[in-house]
Amino acid sequence: MDPIKELIHELAEFHGRERTSLLPILQGVVKKERYLSEYSMKEVARELELPAAEVFGTATFYSFMENKKTGKNIIRVCKTISCSMKGTNQILLAIQDMLKIKLGETTPDGMFTLLQTNCLGWCHKAPAILINDEVYTELTPEKVRDVISDYLKMG
Ligand code: FES
Repeated sequence: MDPIKELIHELAEFHGRERTSLLPILQGVVKKERYLSEYSMKEVARELELPAAEVFGTATFYSFMENKKTGKNIIRVCKTISCSMKGTNQILLAIQDMLKIKLGETTPDGMFTLLQTNCLGWCHKAPAILINDEVYTELTPEKVRDVISDYLKMG
């Protein structure tokens, strides 16, 4: 079996083949492959017996459809209203300032890619960001700098 098919099969075995499994499976593919190719999305659709359009739609909604390799850690800053009202902008500025990259960019050492995403479902604890598959909530610029420092220390 080709490695992508094998990976998606394993992820489906682990997370199940329900609609709700779609997001964790896509995250699993991105974690392993560092990006989500059209081929992977078609394979996920086949494995879960979902229309490919649904998989593409979900991937786009969460900005998982990277067409180039991303950094080791992917930071996704929520751009939806509850988070915006609670100061996503400052969070974004703090990250950009610390990593010296803009949205959509990857640090030259390949450690971080900075992206935006739609609502992560943590509006009650806004502002929220996702780093890889870990959610960080109720952020302040200081808190987000600490979180990123921890990733830098981990190397
Ligand atoms: Fe950001 Fe919902 S609006 S988590």
